[in-house]
Amino acid sequence: LADSLKEHFAGLFLVGSAINSEQAAQTQKDTDLVIQKQFNTVTPENELKWERIHPKLNTFDFALADQYVNFGVTQRMFTVGHTLVWHSQTPDWVFEDEQGQTLTREALLARMQKHISTVVGRYKGKIQGWDVVNEALNEDGSLRDSKWRQIIGDDFIEKAFIYAHQADPNAELYYNDYNLYKPEKSAGAAKLIASLQDKGIQIHGIGLQGHYSLTHPALNELDDALQLFTTLDIKSMITELDVSVLPFPNDAQQGADISQDFALQQALNPYPDVLPKAQQEALSQRYKEIFALFLKHHSTISRVTFWGVNDANSWRNNWPMRGRTDYPLLFDRNNQPKTAYDALMAMP
Ligand code: XIL
Repeated sequence: LADSLKEHFAGLFLVGSAINSEQAAQTQKDTDLVIQKQFNTVTPENELKWERIHPKLNTFDFALADQYVNFGVTQRMFTVGHTLVWHSQTPDWVFEDEQGQTLTREALLARMQKHISTVVGRYKGKIQGWDVVNEALNEDGSLRDSKWRQIIGDDFIEKAFIYAHQADPNAELYYNDYNLYKPEKSAGAAKLIASLQDKGIQIHGIGLQGHYSLTHPALNELDDALQLFTTLDIKSMITELDVSVLPFPNDAQQGADISQDFALQQALNPYPDVLPKAQQEALSQRYKEIFALFLKHHSTISRVTFWGVNDANSWRNNWPMRGRTDYPLLFDRNNQPKTAYDALMAMP
């Protein structure tokens, strides 16, 4: 009988986790044991993002990225690169010349190519799959008006894929985004991918981030989106899975820091210490329903990656509000498996 996620789902899809730099450095022994025992693929939570790896025009800083990649290679895990072209966690200088003027299309393309060839080239043969472009779509499926698109035009996406393929022809290349269960957004993604394929551009997978909650997505929407992506002749992967048990804040509350506001904490963070049994059960049930869909579509789903190892280091404690205590993962703050873990391990 399997006693790890990677064994339990072997032959169906890889199971992985985002890891941060402490985890790649193996400084937290009990967390490290969970990673090595449970997972066969890793993604860097922040360490390969542009702001970390390429903070200034002529400065690359590979120290933490190297440590991450060495970890993945040494542990023989499928090692993912995240991410090359994104509007977020990308410094402003990327889009400006030394006088602070907006770059021309040609200059920004040259900068993008240099970044991609340097980073992908450095980890050629070690990083097996890249999130080449992250979050380029609006909720209605149209292209987000990022600086990449404003300066280069709609073809910034295809250029990024072409440069990545040139830098490592053997790497798998992915488009990654959130809320891809929404019908309009998944249709936009399908259209985008088909347009790359029509031009003969290499793209091998679509990443559905998977920042979910007890109420979102509706299961039929997720099912429909996974079904739609089976028609594209690429892999699907769940790249950043976590399931918040807390109420989703309204627009005005989003991003706010409630760590000092006791009344709001009571309202929006109702489980400060230990997650009560009822919510544990609700989370287990929710994970089971979501994984039932992954199993249904397993012939196209190649990987399911959780966005973090345990509840203590999940970014959901600070998103979509800062200063909450959330419980979105399968391991608790002491690295003990939760009932949601047992529920998944009991699935046929
Ligand atoms: C998040 C990290 O988890 C945080 O530590 C960081 O402060 C912000 O970014 N979509 C993505 C991920 O593609 O890179 C984001 O990761 C979460 C949303």
